[in-house]
Amino acid sequence: MWCLELLLPLLLIIHDASCQWSIWLPRDISAMTNSCVVIPCSFMYPSGIRPIRGVHGIWYFGQPYPQLFPPVVFKSLTEVVHESYKGRTKLLGDLNQRNCTLLIGNIGAEHSGRYYFRADIGGANKYSYPDFAELKVLDQPSIDVPEEIVSDESLELTCYVPDNCPDMTPEIQWMYTDYLPDPAFSTEYLEESNTAVLSNTLVFTPRPMHNGQLLGCRVYYPNTTLVYERLISLDVKYSPRSVWVNVSSEVMESSSVTLHCEVDSNPPPRISWMFEDNELLWDTASNLSLSLDDVTPVNEGVYTCVGDNGYGVMNTSMYLAVKYPPREPVVNESLTVVEGASLALHCSTQGSPAPTLTWLKDGELVGTITAGELSVLEIVEVTPQEDGHYRCLAENEHGRASTSLNITVEYAPVLLEESKCTVVREGVQCVCIATGNPEPTIEFYLPDLNVTVNETDGRYNFYTHTDGHTSTAMIKLREKGERADNGGPAVNVHCSMHNIYGRESVLLELQQEKKYMMAVIVGTIGGVAVIAFIIAAVRYVGQNNKKENGNPRQDVVLENPALYYSAVKKDKQNLRKKVLKTELLGSKFNSILEETTGEDGDYQSVGSMAGLERQELNYAALEFMGRRPREGATGRGDDGSNYTEIKAK
Ligand SMILES: *[C@@H]1O[C@H](CO)[C@@H](O)[C@H](O)[C@H]1NC(C)=O
Ligand SMILES: *[C@@H]1O[C@H](CO)[C@@H](O)[C@H](O)[C@H]1NC(C)=O
Ligand SMILES: *[C@@H]1O[C@H](CO)[C@@H](O)[C@H](O)[C@H]1NC(C)=O
Ligand SMILES: *[C@@H]1O[C@H](CO)[C@@H](O)[C@H](O)[C@H]1NC(C)=O
Ligand SMILES: *[C@@H]1O[C@H](CO)[C@@H](O)[C@H](O)[C@H]1NC(C)=O
Ligand SMILES: *[C@@H]1O[C@H](CO)[C@@H](O)[C@H](O)[C@H]1NC(C)=O
Ligand SMILES: *[C@@H]1O[C@H](CO)[C@@H](O)[C@H](O)[C@H]1NC(C)=O
Ligand SMILES: *[C@@H]1O[C@H](CO)[C@@H](O)[C@H](O)[C@H]1NC(C)=O
Ligand SMILES: *[C@@H]1O[C@H](CO)[C@@H](O)[C@H](O)[C@H]1NC(C)=O
Repeated sequence: MWCLELLLPLLLIIHDASCQWSIWLPRDISAMTNSCVVIPCSFMYPSGIRPIRGVHGIWYFGQPYPQLFPPVVFKSLTEVVHESYKGRTKLLGDLNQRNCTLLIGNIGAEHSGRYYFRADIGGANKYSYPDFAELKVLDQPSIDVPEEIVSDESLELTCYVPDNCPDMTPEIQWMYTDYLPDPAFSTEYLEESNTAVLSNTLVFTPRPMHNGQLLGCRVYYPNTTLVYERLISLDVKYSPRSVWVNVSSEVMESSSVTLHCEVDSNPPPRISWMFEDNELLWDTASNLSLSLDDVTPVNEGVYTCVGDNGYGVMNTSMYLAVKYPPREPVVNESLTVVEGASLALHCSTQGSPAPTLTWLKDGELVGTITAGELSVLEIVEVTPQEDGHYRCLAENEHGRASTSLNITVEYAPVLLEESKCTVVREGVQCVCIATGNPEPTIEFYLPDLNVTVNETDGRYNFYTHTDGHTSTAMIKLREKGERADNGGPAVNVHCSMHNIYGRESVLLELQQEKKYMMAVIVGTIGGVAVIAFIIAAVRYVGQNNKKENGNPRQDVVLENPALYYSAVKKDKQNLRKKVLKTELLGSKFNSILEETTGEDGDYQSVGSMAGLERQELNYAALEFMGRRPREGATGRGDDGSNYTEIKAK
């Protein structure tokens, strides 16, 4: 025969007398402290046994076997129970009905544990059932929290409380729900394995702001003072919702800067700093600082902080600008150009903020001032005036830098207007002055005679001198020669000058009248036909050392009948003189061209007589004039006066 042991709840139906010792009670049951619990229980014993003096039973705590002396929770035969159960237990079931349901009241934590039932049918028919009900005594309700709470996804939180005390029915309330968005509550009563649980489910959609918020479940029994609370803190996962970085900023080159990034996310993100497309630094944290030392312009650019916590990615960028003074500009090499050419000078630099670029020629502004990293100075059709020292100056608020170059302009010879022929006593003196680069070579051509003069020979005194890009040549025509129709000397002198860029030949004009007379009249000899005098124009040039290597000055100044002029250059140690001397002595006209290097008392005294500083540019002209030009050309010098002029500057 079979004994039908029903493991399924509640109804225990005894089918057959052949059933064995068996019991049914809930494996687990719980209760709140200070409340009560009913442990439902049914048992069976073999049907062959007939109870002698009724059915008895004992509830033990911890162990089923009396030999181990477990605490007696309840005993049907006597009222003797263990101290801790005194007055707390009551058998609700009828043992004769095989109903061993037990009530334990006023439960304390010490009552947690296993409860065993032992049936006593009479005589030797005593049996400790090995099955037990395990009681859990709770001082808090439990809350079922999903493993993961994600922002913006609906969340269900359930609070449970056992409801196994028939006299006391719990109620559940959620706490701190005031600021939850649209919370919904629902109560449910669950019965399972003959034990009951009351639950209350809270439904709402959490937001990132609810992360860390406390929520509570409060259980209380009406008409009692019993209150149980359980608090939880919400751990709401959310993707980065803000990535804070510094505002775009500026730093000076060589300084240090620290960029901060803070990401608001849960859990903390993998936070990283990117520069352009390169990751510089990362960490798993809510904030990350990027320190840049000794910043250079290379560090300028977009910095992006990226936060990624698995729930989402977010980034924020900033621009770091690096300020620095202009770099030394890069300009073209010094160059030599031929006049008429066009050229573009490039000046490039870097600087932040963008520098202004200025071109200076010999210290003077040329072109336009531009802001930026490149300035092009265009020179269209170069003329000799463009020859010089060019400087490109880059400036910004942090500093300045410049680079220079020289432009040398080469050009065909140009005749200077001082060139002319002058009637002097017994002849004609012609001076030809031309500039050019390379310096021109000058020759005189006398077409009447079909003669080209480029050096002194027996018939002509020829003098040439070059100073910088200026060449001076002078010729003295000693012959009386033929007379022109007007009685003056027939002069037909061409000045021919050339360099590699050109050749030019010009007929020199014959000049007789004085251009000006600023004079101190030193005497008048009226009516005297011939008074010839020395007109001395002395230029005394004292140059200091610095000027010595600079561009040579054009020393030669020729006024009207320049009977005499000299150019004197002084060294510091050595007086070097280039003397061009023409003398008129009485009616005898001699022209002496000489270049001396030695001491020359005649001329040196002019300098010292004038009492002039050697270190300065000095000028003195001494001129005596009395002769009325015989040729009768227009002029003012017909009063026969003599004059002298002294200039100093
Ligand atoms: C056992 O007794 C309890 C209390 O009287 C009762 O509620 C329960 O229904 C009984 N169980 C059975 C199986 O009769
Ligand atoms: C609480 O007590 C009041 C009166 O004392 C009674 O009306 C009410 O039903 C009781 N509530 C419960 C749940 O026992
Ligand atoms: C970035 O912000 C942090 C914190 O506000 C500050 O200490 C730091 O100096 C800032 N850095 C820059 C470059 O502005
Ligand atoms: C930065 O993160 C660290 C941990 O990584 C933390 O201790 C610190 O408080 C955070 N600082 C700020 C300003 O959030
Ligand atoms: C930053 O985010 C934007 C879109 O939000 C994305 O296009 C860009 O690639 C991100 N930058 C980085 C460095 O992750
Ligand atoms: C100056 O340099 C720039 C760039 O290096 C070049 O393009 C330009 O032709 C140069 N100018 C001259 C006159 O050489
Ligand atoms: C330009 O010429 C001057 C004088 O001849 C010289 O001192 C200077 O070094 C030159 N500069 C350059 C850049 O060539
Ligand atoms: C000038 O002289 C040259 C030879 O020295 C001769 O060939 C030429 O024909 C002459 N010209 C004139 C115009 O006399
Ligand atoms: C003068 O010209 C002749 C012929 O052209 C030349 O041979 C001579 O070298 C020149 N003299 C000077 C000093 O230039």
